[in-house]
Amino acid sequence: MTHFSKDTECFFRSPVREIFKKVDLSSIYSFAGGYPSADTFPLEDIRSTMSKVIDKWGGVAFQYGATQGVTVLREAVAKRCGVPVERVQITSSSQQGIDVCTRVLVDPGDVVLTSNPSYLGALQSFCSYRADIRGVSHCSDIVRFEQDYVKTIEEALSEGKKIKFLYMIPDFQNPSGETLTLQERKMMVSLARKYDFLIVEDSPYRELRYEGDPVPTMYSLDPERVVHLGSFSKIFAPGFRLGWILANEDVLDKIYVCKQSLDLCPPVFDQYVAAEFLQSGLLDANLSKSIELYRHKRDVLLSLLEKYMPENVSWTHPEGGLFLFLTLPEDFDSVAFYDRALSAGVAYVAGSFFHTDGGGKNTMRLNFSFLDENRMEPGIKILSDLLR
Ligand SMILES: Cc1ncc(COP(=O)(O)O)c(C=O)c1O
Repeated sequence: MTHFSKDTECFFRSPVREIFKKVDLSSIYSFAGGYPSADTFPLEDIRSTMSKVIDKWGGVAFQYGATQGVTVLREAVAKRCGVPVERVQITSSSQQGIDVCTRVLVDPGDVVLTSNPSYLGALQSFCSYRADIRGVSHCSDIVRFEQDYVKTIEEALSEGKKIKFLYMIPDFQNPSGETLTLQERKMMVSLARKYDFLIVEDSPYRELRYEGDPVPTMYSLDPERVVHLGSFSKIFAPGFRLGWILANEDVLDKIYVCKQSLDLCPPVFDQYVAAEFLQSGLLDANLSKSIELYRHKRDVLLSLLEKYMPENVSWTHPEGGLFLFLTLPEDFDSVAFYDRALSAGVAYVAGSFFHTDGGGKNTMRLNFSFLDENRMEPGIKILSDLLR
């Protein structure tokens, strides 16, 4: 076909979703997806809240709504995040937040900086707008880490490129599970000021913290330069497809116009339900239970890895979120190994899919939220035996 746009040539299919198509996940031990546990969806509370919303709002709940989102939800999000309501745009999930930010900021060939590895859905979005993605690997030595960023930035500028934004998942990153320190966040904000680019801070896991103290958001360090993306997917339910953007007025205005052509308004009934859930305290009560459940599941997975994995395998210890990241010996190829693992009944996501430069062949991402606790041990045992 010759009818497609140039953009479509840069689309790429999510290898994670391809995995889902190949197998019935319930028949294997899957550490692959990023799904929350369905046990965290408070069905009865959702049922009664939906009923309440219909009683309270009637037909308004099923009408078109404001492009920025319905006022009650914007107010509830503003209160939760401690920002003025004018700074809040509701989105149809944070994936849409990533996409609209890229759409309003990036021209083909512009540079988007990110971590290496980074979130696959974001890489798909950047590619679809023909961005030039440059990833920087994490380094625990802050001086070297900053030098690596400066080198990448200077290189891009010397090629005559424009750097539009740095995309980061500072809390319990997908896929690595790692959290940026305050010093690292400050370093990135100061580079953004020095080289005049924006930061898109993607934070869907921020409220799923199982240990340690919260680190200030990058948005709180510079609300003019940082665009913050939040999501109801992991703290409520992903099926509602709701998220939010906090940004300065200029950026929000462009996003507002962009969303008019995209979806006119976020799903209205869902927004009233989310607002009611937040205001009634049901969301926080449920979130506390989800945190308990996920902390336990994380601990189970960590102890199983300790018990079964060969000595030359290491992994991250996430303080929150849904993932941890395994590093295997240098010559290991987790893409090539995948079919063997799947035939034996275990699924993971190969780490190289999250890399911007084809690296990370010897890494894999494991999710601990979705699989039932009692199915984790046989799954890890099979994977460990195969690796041995
Ligand atoms: C880092 C990150 N950003 C965004 C998303 C998309 O989430 P949402 O359901 O809010 O679109 C995900 C989903 O897994 C994610 O891991």
